[in-house]
Amino acid sequence: MYGQGKRITTAAGLLRWAAARLREWPEPAREARRALSLACGANGVLPTQLTPWEVCRFRRIVEARARGVPWPALEGTTAFLDFEVLVPPGVFIPRPETEELGELALQVWRDLPDSARALDWGTGTGVLALALARARPEAEVWALDVSRRAVAAAGRNAQRLGVRLHLLRSQSFARVQGAFHLIVANPPYVPTPHLSRLPADVKHQDPRRALDGGPDGLRWIRELIVHGPRFLLPGGYLLMEIGPDQGGAVLRLAKAVGLWSEARVLPDLSGQPRFFWGRRC
Ligand SMILES: C[S@@+](CC[C@H](N)C(=O)[O-])C[C@H]1O[C@@H](n2cnc3c(N)ncnc32)[C@H](O)[C@@H]1O
Repeated sequence: MYGQGKRITTAAGLLRWAAARLREWPEPAREARRALSLACGANGVLPTQLTPWEVCRFRRIVEARARGVPWPALEGTTAFLDFEVLVPPGVFIPRPETEELGELALQVWRDLPDSARALDWGTGTGVLALALARARPEAEVWALDVSRRAVAAAGRNAQRLGVRLHLLRSQSFARVQGAFHLIVANPPYVPTPHLSRLPADVKHQDPRRALDGGPDGLRWIRELIVHGPRFLLPGGYLLMEIGPDQGGAVLRLAKAVGLWSEARVLPDLSGQPRFFWGRRC
């Protein structure tokens, strides 16, 4: 942060320093510009000179990026499909593959009757529930999570986006009433023994409860496949994200339960088995 003994305060000098500090990232110059923009609250046009306070803030952001802290955690927001959500600390940061689950869910959702009811199990910031509610404002969409922070985040995001969600703090289905046409879920599915091997950004930013799928990773997936049918209307759908190596186990489980008339595992855009698509008998 010092050039020839003097503290750097010009944007050009700071960007050079940051790009060198972030050289491990694929696009260091871009990273540096994004950090500068965040530090200065700049909307498009970057300043040429920074105040001491902005320099300090910039340095903190660059150091956090160097440690692997993801952008949504620094910026407090992230994009999902065609909208943006707030991501408060302690709430799971939505991932791009879940946007694909959102698109699958929207395809099913658009064809359901006017009185359609949907449940987003483990809503986090509310992204899946919000996508459904935005597509059909007249329908009834429930956003459920065991985490108080997550339920509050989903409520705040709904308010910001001007959509109506029914919020429910519940341990799995414990407080759920009635039956739904569609259940969507991105449950925790990382096997407990693998948690310590996750990349630093995932391990340190996302709450453990959002990731931990129990000893075999299937604890909550099993819950949804075994108990989900009780909360679905006949012909109702369960669309759920799973780990890429869990497809076989999930299909065997669905067959053993005997309450699914259709059960498939669909790939994500990279061709990895990633989504369970089930229809209740
Ligand atoms: C992987 S995150 C998914 C969040 C959001 N649906 C998304 O895709 O961004 C899993 C979510 O499930 C919630 N969760 C974990 N165990 C739960 C349980 N037993 N009952 C309800 N929610 C649970 C976590 O708090 C977390 O918000």
